[in-house]
Amino acid sequence: MILAAAGSGSRFGGPATPTGPTKVEEDLGGRPVFAWSLALLRARAGVVSVVLAVDPRRRDAFAARWPAELADAAGLAPVRVVAGGADRDATVRLALAAVPEDATHAAVHDAARPGIDDALLDRLFAAAAAGHDAVFPGVPVADTLRRVQAAGGGVARAGETVDRESLVAVQTPQLFAIGVLRRAHAATLPGPPTDDAGRVAALGVPVVCVPGDPRNVKLTTRADLATLEARVADAPS
Ligand code: CTP
Ligand code: MG
Repeated sequence: MILAAAGSGSRFGGPATPTGPTKVEEDLGGRPVFAWSLALLRARAGVVSVVLAVDPRRRDAFAARWPAELADAAGLAPVRVVAGGADRDATVRLALAAVPEDATHAAVHDAARPGIDDALLDRLFAAAAAGHDAVFPGVPVADTLRRVQAAGGGVARAGETVDRESLVAVQTPQLFAIGVLRRAHAATLPGPPTDDAGRVAALGVPVVCVPGDPRNVKLTTRADLATLEARVADAPS
């Protein structure tokens, strides 16, 4: 299991100093944001190891924020902390190198999504057990979507409406057969880095979607904190 936690959180307001605390270290209901998904994943049967990728300048700070209930204990998967990279794609590639050789699958999760639960993991694991080598959670898109093109003067010219019925918003965790994910990250892409499911799809490997969870919100701006506080308040801890 890979937990990507090495971002700077620029849309959140970023750290006050270049090496200051990032959004995934922010307090959320009495624990740092990253600790919520870390605690759930470590305790999950079938998860044999967690690789937590952090900004190398924040390694000690993460250790200092480690909640006591996340101390190593029987029944909890061990955590290996590694240095992340300049973008999320590079972070995942660096973390992948620390996934144990004998792992059959690897999941990639954004530490900025603390609102996952076992029911979501059940759906992902069931799809993998059914033989799907690449699985991600997706949620229906609620808003009407249109293409637009900037037209100057603070307005954009509206183009066609995009069919919402055939679209989902992509979440994490994304779960892969380990060989598929390793191959996907060894490949050179024609375009800019995409997410892991996108990398796998570029290999021609079929990717499937299971129902995501609308409460699995990614902490992106400060406004997301209130939503996520409400979410973790009903999570079993
Ligand atoms: N991430 C990472 N390494 C990076 C960039 C992002 O591990 N170099 C992680 C983030 O810590 C986060 C997840 O990828 O858990 C999703 O990224 P995003 O929400 O974009 O976080 P940031 O990149 O930190 O935020 P922003 O894009 O606003 O700067
Ligand atoms: Mg980012």
